[in-house]
Amino acid sequence: MEPTEGARTFLTSGDAYDSFMGRYSKPLASVFIDLVGAVPGARALDVGCGPGALTQALAARLGTHAVNSCDPSPPFVAECAARNPGVEVRQGRAEELPYESGTFDAVLAQLVLHFVSEPKTAIAEMTRVAKPGGVLAASVWDFRRGMEMLRAFWDAAITLDPLAPDELRVMRFGRPGELAELFEEGGLDDVLEEELIVASDYADFDELWRGFQAGIGPAGNYVVTLREDRQEALRDELYRRVGSPAGGFTLQAVARVARGTRPY
Ligand SMILES: C[S@@+](CC[C@H](N)C(=O)[O-])C[C@H]1O[C@@H](n2cnc3c(N)ncnc32)[C@H](O)[C@@H]1O
Repeated sequence: MEPTEGARTFLTSGDAYDSFMGRYSKPLASVFIDLVGAVPGARALDVGCGPGALTQALAARLGTHAVNSCDPSPPFVAECAARNPGVEVRQGRAEELPYESGTFDAVLAQLVLHFVSEPKTAIAEMTRVAKPGGVLAASVWDFRRGMEMLRAFWDAAITLDPLAPDELRVMRFGRPGELAELFEEGGLDDVLEEELIVASDYADFDELWRGFQAGIGPAGNYVVTLREDRQEALRDELYRRVGSPAGGFTLQAVARVARGTRPY
């Protein structure tokens, strides 16, 4: 299976991903599961698992054999499996989940649906593989104000290039109500949307900038396609926008999270 277009900027190592985004998705996984309410005895699917932040948190609560994971990126499938022995990890995309109907008590997609080319099909597939009464949940960063790392980055980028592909402009589901609307249109019951807040500490500005230089996701991909002098200008503008830190600093990230249940 060829990686999807949405997975194109995620053909990277798990360590590089963690330095850039996993540092946020690991703490998010824990509060995301609290909101979903996955309890021991439940069987869960992690859709778009990446190198396995949510998979690891689910396995710690439910047991490795109660967790299945899938992602279209081959290096992430391998990394998630290596980090989570006992969890079955498959290559697969949300729009065509490689599982039987009615299998899971909880189907979760953390920071994935904005990369999916057919989100309505993805919700239909997540619903199909859930048991009747099973929980579906998804999270996406709030690009408007809540994901400080990406907001500061894109504000810096559009200052230098007004046509830069700001994720707030080009991605879906990062504004209040969008995820809940997708779930409601998908026919789910008891839909609610909330926000969750996490944070990450940086030793210095170089640690933040190195994350972007790894070319991961839309922001990293934008950096590595710029000429060197433009990268330097963007670096300087980003430094200014995060407060010109002389040493360590902390950035906050707000995620929009929707939860619903498959009708009986
Ligand atoms: C920001 S990462 C999130 C990874 C992980 N869930 C986490 O929280 O760290 C986005 C993930 O979505 C995956 N992805 C992209 N397109 C997808 C699709 N159509 N179906 C499922 N996953 C997809 C990427 O390969 C990548 O692993």
